[in-house]
Amino acid sequence: MPPNPTPNQLRFPSHFLWGAATAAHQTEGNNVNSDWWVREHTPGTSLAEASGDACDSFHRYGEEIRLLAELGLTTYRFSIEWARIEPEQGFVSRAAIDHYRRMVAACHEAGLTPMLTLHHFTNPRWFAARGGWQTPDAPELFARYTEAALPVLTDGVAWVCTINEPNGVAGAVGQSGPNLPNHVYALPDPQVSATLVLAHRRSREVLTAIPGIKSGWAIATQAFQPEPGCEQIAHTYGHPREDFFLEAARGDDFVGVQAYTRTVIGPDGPKPPREGVETTQMGWEYYPPAVGDGIRNAWKLTDGVPVIVTENGIATADDTRRIAYTTGALTAVHQAMTDGIDVRGYLHWSALDNYEWGTYHPTFGLIAVDRQTFTRTPKPSAHWLGQIARTGRLPLDAAP
Ligand code: NOJ
Repeated sequence: MPPNPTPNQLRFPSHFLWGAATAAHQTEGNNVNSDWWVREHTPGTSLAEASGDACDSFHRYGEEIRLLAELGLTTYRFSIEWARIEPEQGFVSRAAIDHYRRMVAACHEAGLTPMLTLHHFTNPRWFAARGGWQTPDAPELFARYTEAALPVLTDGVAWVCTINEPNGVAGAVGQSGPNLPNHVYALPDPQVSATLVLAHRRSREVLTAIPGIKSGWAIATQAFQPEPGCEQIAHTYGHPREDFFLEAARGDDFVGVQAYTRTVIGPDGPKPPREGVETTQMGWEYYPPAVGDGIRNAWKLTDGVPVIVTENGIATADDTRRIAYTTGALTAVHQAMTDGIDVRGYLHWSALDNYEWGTYHPTFGLIAVDRQTFTRTPKPSAHWLGQIARTGRLPLDAAP
């Protein structure tokens, strides 16, 4: 790590990846062949809002890629949509492949390093209808989809996330529903967790055959913090929800850490945020150091696989809190690096205000999106993060 230039600045290495992230279903719009679209339009759905046109990124990706580059960021993480690439089992859409190749080309033209996610929560309708991740041949089907996506990935994509938050995917099968309090992370179905590990491995077999591609998966880390005497309870609670998936990343090229808040574990398990503490639009405790906990747990449980923060951010209407939160988070990232952990990059969630799985209310974006005109307007936090990316220096005057 380079020495710090002044006491109120932290310096990051020059090769550090600075970026922002999105996911196809949350931004593209009209993802009509996906299981989420079906769910959004099922009568009586528990979801408050449907995704609809989202940010119309399917057509406007060029503008956001240029914007991110102009702001000073160096990396864009986005997902490609299985439901578009393989809208019917075995039928691979050349047009969809070409679309994503154009996105990768746009990143290269703008000077952004693309990081691609193959699966970000949504499945093709046909895959869901035949049992989704509960069928034993799901890993094979996912490997075939990975093969189908190779023309996109071999266009110079160095970083590939196979599955985004498999712990959330397995949790949605294990214990989901509107009644789960939001400080409780859904308990993954162990069978589905095992199937996802197999799918990840099969996909990586395809990817590691391609020189130059580094692959891994991105885990929701939850910063479990046991109260004194509750260490065993925290382990029992945390293992199926997080550790299992980090352990499965041993030997990968990198592991993605996605952190937002912490989970305090008391004698009765996870506790809601304490009375009076600041919470975000998600109802999560405002806790910037969470990402440090996630990085340390990932590094420990993978036996030293390089870490990339593939998501970190805050749902807030007050952009000054986004800057303060991110200052705290980056301070924790820097501390982990100073302690010897190999952290390769920081990708903020999200590039854009987007569809937060059932609602547009929480705004995670560095860039605001007008939902009528689709006009993109960078917030002060976008310029602030871009400046950090340009200089590699984090000013500490916006400390949380
Ligand atoms: C993790 C998910 O990957 C992303 O889709 C979601 O929007 C953010 N967390 C915020 O909840």
